[in-house]
Amino acid sequence: MAARTIKQLIKAQAVSEGAGVTVHRTIGTAALKHLDPFLMLDYFNSDNPDDYIAGFPDHPHRGFITFTYMLDGDMLHRDSMGNQGHLHSGGAQWMKAASGVIHSEMPKQVAGLMRGFQLWINLPASEKMTAPAYQEFSDAAIPRISSAGQQVKILSGEYQGVRGPIIDATTQVIYLDVSLQAAQTFSHDLEAGLQGFIYVFEAELNVAGTRLAEHSFAVLNDGDTLQAVSGDKPARFIIVAGKPLREPIVQYGPFVMNTTEEIKQAISDYNNGVLVQNKAAVNSY
Ligand code: CO
Repeated sequence: MAARTIKQLIKAQAVSEGAGVTVHRTIGTAALKHLDPFLMLDYFNSDNPDDYIAGFPDHPHRGFITFTYMLDGDMLHRDSMGNQGHLHSGGAQWMKAASGVIHSEMPKQVAGLMRGFQLWINLPASEKMTAPAYQEFSDAAIPRISSAGQQVKILSGEYQGVRGPIIDATTQVIYLDVSLQAAQTFSHDLEAGLQGFIYVFEAELNVAGTRLAEHSFAVLNDGDTLQAVSGDKPARFIIVAGKPLREPIVQYGPFVMNTTEEIKQAISDYNNGVLVQNKAAVNSY
């Protein structure tokens, strides 16, 4: 059994997206362009509605999956598949844009916080031009395993024999939200070969001798066991892992394909109003 150690710590970069919403980006920055199969990770956190209320009006995606997890606050979603999602605090949405989706993501003004993550997961060449698909689950539909001093919420993948509701068949993404009381040890067998990372969003952690301060993003080395120890305050973090695709990546904004030719095609399809093709979308609630 080899412990997963920390390979790289990334500092988040503030980026303005959509209609002027500030997000804190880690994957998808100059310091970490991609982390195969992951293309981007944004963390958003604000208690001021003026920061985010303009939201993310209609915009396209092609060639990958967006995975949105709302920690606090609401997000109204509308897309070219005909879905009208309403994510509440604790809910998660998996949207396979594949051949093309146009959607809007509008934070809804609610008292208090607006906090969450958006992760982009790449698709293999064989799936980039397939039909889009959509999965959305409320907080109540996402299982938790609790033991003394810890709680693990399983959004996707398996933890201690319990499967999360979001099925990510190709890259087999594991997505866990872990809460630890002070001075607790979390252990998990994270299958070797999966590319993994941790984002600590409350307090701090120690992983294999490396201190992860609040808002640390850490890339994990390969291995098959993971141990994370909280400090003198309760800590909360996400652990995400997935199967690398090992394919060429050519990205132009919201289009991620394998070749420049395919990117030119995506831009031309979007400009000609045919990015969203007449392919039946797959919905699985
Ligand atoms: Co989007």
